Amino acid sequence: MMTEIVLPNDTNSLGNMMGGRLLHLMDKCAAISAQRHANRVCVTAAVDNVEFQSAIQEGEIVVVKSRVNRAFHTSMEIELNVWAENPRDETQRKCNRAFYTFVALDEEGATVDVPSIAPENDEEYERYTAAAKRRDIRLVLAGRKDLQNASHLKEDMITALQHSSDALE
Ligand SMILES: CC(C)(COP(=O)(O)OP(=O)(O)OC[C@H]1O[C@@H](n2cnc3c(N)ncnc32)[C@H](O)[C@@H]1OP(=O)(O)O)[C@@H](O)C(=O)NCCC(=O)NCCS
Repeated sequence: MMTEIVLPNDTNSLGNMMGGRLLHLMDKCAAISAQRHANRVCVTAAVDNVEFQSAIQEGEIVVVKSRVNRAFHTSMEIELNVWAENPRDETQRKCNRAFYTFVALDEEGATVDVPSIAPENDEEYERYTAAAKRRDIRLVLAGRKDLQNASHLKEDMITALQHSSDALE
């Protein structure tokens, strides 16, 4: 988890936090989760579609939480959730969710396998299963996988897409 206060240098002329600043914070938070899991240097390979659903105002506190949903071979899907906290009454509102893909590298910069993840409850299993479907989607969209070989997609692509675009809690 990372927290940061939004200062004037982080905002546009309306006093809203700039998207690039938030993406930078999310990228750092995701990198920490990936590197802790892999015990390696990890680089961002892909960022799925990001929506900015609620502006974060100057003076608010940004709370970013990340977790590793699934490790594949050398890559991992990291889920990011973002809240804005009002420092006066400590209320929080959900602002953003995104999925980042990180890849572990060795000292020479070559990709290296990462430990797998074993889901321990229904919620973790659901995230683990959906992560494989989202991976198929992003690899097909990136031109790295033929749709015919996207086995996870064939089952229920719609479920995976729905999970990715769940309404903010
Ligand atoms: C990410 C990177 C290491 C992948 O290298 P590569 O030679 O394409 O390696 P591979 O083809 O073996 O792919 C490695 C893994 O990345 C995954 N990957 C690559 N591109 C991907 C994409 N667009 N979306 C999702 N996963 C991707 C592959 O599926 C593979 O995962 P797996 O091993 O778990 O199956 C390389 O492209 C790179 O170094 N990119 C720059 C990273 C960087 O600088 N990030 C910061 C940018 S601001």
